[in-house]
Amino acid sequence: MSEQPIEVQDNAGVVRLTVNRPKALNALNSDVIAALAATLDELEARNDLRAVLITGAGEKAFVAGADITEMRDKSAPQARDFAGQALATLKRLEALPVPVVALVNGFCLGGGCELALACDWAVASDNAVFGQPEVLLGVIPGFGGTQRLPRRVGPAMALDLVTTGRKIDANEALRIGLVNRVMPQAELEDYAAELTKQLGGNGPQAVRGAKQAVHDGMDQDLDSALALETSLFALCFAGEEQREGMSAFVEKRKPNF
Ligand code: CAA
Repeated sequence: MSEQPIEVQDNAGVVRLTVNRPKALNALNSDVIAALAATLDELEARNDLRAVLITGAGEKAFVAGADITEMRDKSAPQARDFAGQALATLKRLEALPVPVVALVNGFCLGGGCELALACDWAVASDNAVFGQPEVLLGVIPGFGGTQRLPRRVGPAMALDLVTTGRKIDANEALRIGLVNRVMPQAELEDYAAELTKQLGGNGPQAVRGAKQAVHDGMDQDLDSALALETSLFALCFAGEEQREGMSAFVEKRKPNF
């Protein structure tokens, strides 16, 4: 692994990002956040992007939080700037037009949990530990946790986690809907490979349309959201993917997207 704070690997448009500070359990400092923002500059400019997978370097942590050493001496305005940079960067990650999936391979705490929450979904290895322990440090979550966590797991469970700071294991994270799947750590790479194949093989415009429909629709009333779905569904028929996908079905062959 190189010394870049964010390691980037491209597999035919499915891009894997690795937060690469294993000695600090991949804690998010200003350098990591700036590197993620710079990576997003490149990803946002790509028309061939199909999906993004994000994980942490090493076998112990996804991301163990924002960097406590860096935050310790910050003033309130400096803390506001730090959170602002991180929030804006996570918003850009979330807004990528393709699926963004967190591969949670260990500690997923504080800013790490907030990074996972900015992804479309998350899968976890069975050694993963989740939590928003900020109150134990005398602060509250600052990278979106108080807002995205209740939207993912409901307000009561979010309040439980953000006010007690308790940590939960991967199975509890699965039960409350924080992650979609749990698997032995040794199987996480197989899952990543399978996902790379699946997301890389589906119709790219259809995948983008499906993400857009869910994301944009969630902010609208049901009637408007259903109308949005109809528009995006119809738009599929204006491109070549629909003809190829449906022809492949009729001709009993695999589609070539
Ligand atoms: N920031 C900076 N350094 C961190 C870190 C963090 N969030 N988490 C771990 N590290 C560093 C440790 O300081 C240690 O460094 P040294 O070897 O130089 O001492 C190294 O990573 C390994 O960590 P530990 O020795 O502590 O490993 P452990 O196995 O004993 O414990 C742990 C693992 C339970 C995850 C523990 O490291 C821990 O509690 N980390 C902090 C978790 C946390 O509180 N996260 C929330 C941060 S606040 C936040 O994120 C605010 C926000 O919303 C923006």
